[in-house]
Amino acid sequence: MLFNCPLSTNKAAQIINALNLKPTYKVVDLGCGNGEFLSRIQKNSNADCLGIDIDSSSIALAELKVPQHDLARKLRFLIADIRETQLKENSFELAVCIGSTHAFGDGEAAYPNALKQMNELVKPKGLILIGEGYWKRSPEQEYLDFLGNPAGIYNSHEQNIQQAESLGLIPMYVATSNQDEWDHFEWSFRMKAEQQVIAEPDNQTAQKKLKRIRKWNQYYRKFGRTTMGFGFYLYLKLE
Ligand SMILES: C[S@@+](CC[C@H](N)C(=O)[O-])C[C@H]1O[C@@H](n2cnc3c(N)ncnc32)[C@H](O)[C@@H]1O
Repeated sequence: MLFNCPLSTNKAAQIINALNLKPTYKVVDLGCGNGEFLSRIQKNSNADCLGIDIDSSSIALAELKVPQHDLARKLRFLIADIRETQLKENSFELAVCIGSTHAFGDGEAAYPNALKQMNELVKPKGLILIGEGYWKRSPEQEYLDFLGNPAGIYNSHEQNIQQAESLGLIPMYVATSNQDEWDHFEWSFRMKAEQQVIAEPDNQTAQKKLKRIRKWNQYYRKFGRTTMGFGFYLYLKLE
């Protein structure tokens, strides 16, 4: 799986083209995972890109994407907890956070906290690209009970946009994940877990993980497929 969110390479290219970045720009990706999205931004724009993630194994994969000839180190990655990282305010032309708003706060506070903190990081006329879940329709109680707390999704698509507007951000462009992207995302998790158990039948940890993922997949098919949405929201900070 290239991205740790429901996103195809075509949709990623479409979103990155909409950013219209220049080589002089500074970009930060907060919760960048394996750095795939950020490395595509860097290739597209030659901007100065910094990716941050708390997970050292994700950053190790991200580092493999830094081109050997990148002597200027225009693509850099850092292992760090966003909650404890001080970045310079008003210093980036673009801040990105895709599927990682939980790094900014718990439960319902995650998305608005992410918006507020990213707003501080970008310069006036800078951009915020945030990938966040939304409910396509009201979720069944049985599904909410299964997801537990935090459920991870709290708003409708419209509410996600309105929350940003209430902070003075201007929505510039929005894309959403389609059914193919969702199915690919969810089934890739399952296939990986199934394959691991086939390869290592005595691995108890893999067995447990597969049990969890099969259950998740079953609820995805029954509820999530028609209920969960994921949006890529591009906002402008006016001043
Ligand atoms: C669902 S993944 C998304 C990764 C990537 N943005 C993508 O779309 O492929 C969420 C990422 O947030 C990172 N993360 C969670 N809490 C964090 C924190 N407090 N500081 C930094 N990264 C964090 C996780 O390690 C994980 O890589």
